[in-house]
Amino acid sequence: MAPQVKDDAFGSACNLLAGARRVVAFTGAGVSAESGIPTYRDAEDGLWTQYDPEEFASIDRFLQDPTLFWRFFQDVRYQAITKAEPNPGHRALAALERAGRLRAVITQNIDGLHQAAGSRTVIELHGNTRSIRCLSCGARYSMETVYLQLARELPPPCRACGGMLKPEVVFFGESLPEAALRQATEAADACDLLLAIGSSLVVYPAAILPERALRRGAGLIMVNRTATPLDEQADAVLRQPAGEVLPLLMEAIGVELEPA
Ligand code: APR
Repeated sequence: MAPQVKDDAFGSACNLLAGARRVVAFTGAGVSAESGIPTYRDAEDGLWTQYDPEEFASIDRFLQDPTLFWRFFQDVRYQAITKAEPNPGHRALAALERAGRLRAVITQNIDGLHQAAGSRTVIELHGNTRSIRCLSCGARYSMETVYLQLARELPPPCRACGGMLKPEVVFFGESLPEAALRQATEAADACDLLLAIGSSLVVYPAAILPERALRRGAGLIMVNRTATPLDEQADAVLRQPAGEVLPLLMEAIGVELEPA
């Protein structure tokens, strides 16, 4: 993909989107920031600037003593995730897919907001909070059920066997779900344009995917409030909030934002 003139990033992004045939989006916490879910590394209110991920989101620490995580889940994550609604950025990607112009959303997010906005092909690299599983017998419970249980029992035991419950999200130190990683790798390898939105691109193996797409000659549009390691290789870098600029991009390329 020939590098576009960078002095008009929005215009370049429109040209790239208009000319692409196999677009894939790769999203991180920044796409949900305007839904009220804090990101992880933003200087002002990033989750990991207030809580140590080694303490609150590593598998080793969780298996030693899950209490710390469940209290964090109860006091911090559950409210943020359950109150959040999709924002215009999520809805713009769902519109691009409805128009037949987006193959898939590969997301690092666990909040389910892409699906809530209407996106149908969503690859959750880091799992999701919808379902909580027993590590002993495999029984599954909804997030809501376990949240109610937390008021009485912390950490919450499995109702069926008394075993340890864990949300089906990827903790630090855990490998990514194989099927999701395979599907995401295939999508990144097959795309001719990757839309990287709201990710600092510092967590691997997820961050390999935009690099793979670039290596295979795909174009790259970066939508991120702050600098990322791939900005220099991007064909267009948009520093505006995703919830503002993505709907403008859709309108500019003639994609109907609302479902018919
Ligand atoms: N629009 C666009 N970009 C935004 C917005 C916004 N409204 N708000 C914040 N950003 C950008 C920030 O500048 C930042 O670079 O989104 C990025 C979010 O980066 P992180 O907080 O590091 O989130 P993410 O990249 O998704 O983290 C990856 O790390 O902790 C793990 O599993 C967790 O999935 C997560 C992974």
